[in-house]
Amino acid sequence: MNKKTVKDIDLKGKKVLVRCDFNVPMDENQNITDNTRIVAALPTIKYLLENNCAIILCSHLGRPKGEFKPEFSLKPVAKELANLLGKEVIMANDVIGEDAKSKAKELQNGQIMLLENVRFHKEETDNDPEFAKELASMAEIYVSDAFGSTHRAHASTAGVAEYLPAVSGFLIEKELQFLGNAISNPERPFVAILGGAKVSDKIGVIDNLLEKVDTLIIGGGMAYTFFKAQGYEIGDSICELDKLELARDLMKKAKEKGVKLMLPIDTKIGKEYKADTESKTVKYTEIPEGWEGLDIGEETIKAYTEELKTAKTVIWNGPLGVFEFEQFAVGTNSIAKALAEIDATTIIGGGDSSAAVKKAGLENKMTHISTGGGASLEFLEGKALPGIKCLLDK
Ligand code: 3PG
Repeated sequence: MNKKTVKDIDLKGKKVLVRCDFNVPMDENQNITDNTRIVAALPTIKYLLENNCAIILCSHLGRPKGEFKPEFSLKPVAKELANLLGKEVIMANDVIGEDAKSKAKELQNGQIMLLENVRFHKEETDNDPEFAKELASMAEIYVSDAFGSTHRAHASTAGVAEYLPAVSGFLIEKELQFLGNAISNPERPFVAILGGAKVSDKIGVIDNLLEKVDTLIIGGGMAYTFFKAQGYEIGDSICELDKLELARDLMKKAKEKGVKLMLPIDTKIGKEYKADTESKTVKYTEIPEGWEGLDIGEETIKAYTEELKTAKTVIWNGPLGVFEFEQFAVGTNSIAKALAEIDATTIIGGGDSSAAVKKAGLENKMTHISTGGGASLEFLEGKALPGIKCLLDK
């Protein structure tokens, strides 16, 4: 990485503001249901403790839209972090208010505090310079370790770097190393698996990956737009009618680039979009009226698994079916299993595919599971991420 990290700056005994991505899933009682992002922040926090820093952590949680809403409080995160570190985490009751400022001022070296949800202020998402300046005024150095939020140009992810020396933490370094190497220097064959409901969400990624991969495997709801684009009837399956031309262009581009584009050859269809609906598997060319495609079929799973066995690098983003419904989770789970068994670098790009891998208990079998959903997608699109661009160059 050509950006400075915590190792490239003298931060011994300094007051440091660290932006983490503690946007973790919680149940209705504010119990954290997956602490991966908190665990992922530990190496940087521990390094700062070893260097006797006074550590001010900040993050967003959910989308409270600029208002204080108790259900979006970061208090449960402070508790979980304290448990993981075996150390007190002082919780501020606000972000740049009196409580945060006086606690930040009194914070001693070797102590940790967490500010309240930065999105309790609308100025955060507006990337308001005054707000960024207020945040910066509490510390001497800014460390960005919120990989999952680096695609956001917000005050705490980018704006604050205008006012403090800004470096990355170990999580961002690690994410860029895995995602970056896969994209710029992959061991071949390089296979990408893209799923998810809409082609429109993945256009940039497909376009960029067609320049890099040997094989592109498509699954999920967007496959039906590709079927329709080839002139087949797709019943009630999800489809973006305004993207048919685009789907045809992408197929043409794959051909021109010599990329093997694999689309499902059969599909598991349901009568209705619900967990226990009547279902059956048909060829992709034979989806009847009144039915909708909800997963890839067995023949497709076989073909995709065989292709993956030949791969040396695989990137996967997006589920291959409606994996929230058990009977339509077979495709997604089978691909997770196939990836767990191959001898290749396997990179899972955030969000639903990570959830599927974790649900199947296969996370230790993957080379890297990204903590970024939208951020990893934008990285794969080849876009510059504002939360990284703002850091000091090496
Ligand atoms: C995420 O969960 O992808 C990040 O925390 C960013 O959240 P956002 O989409 O609300 O900006």
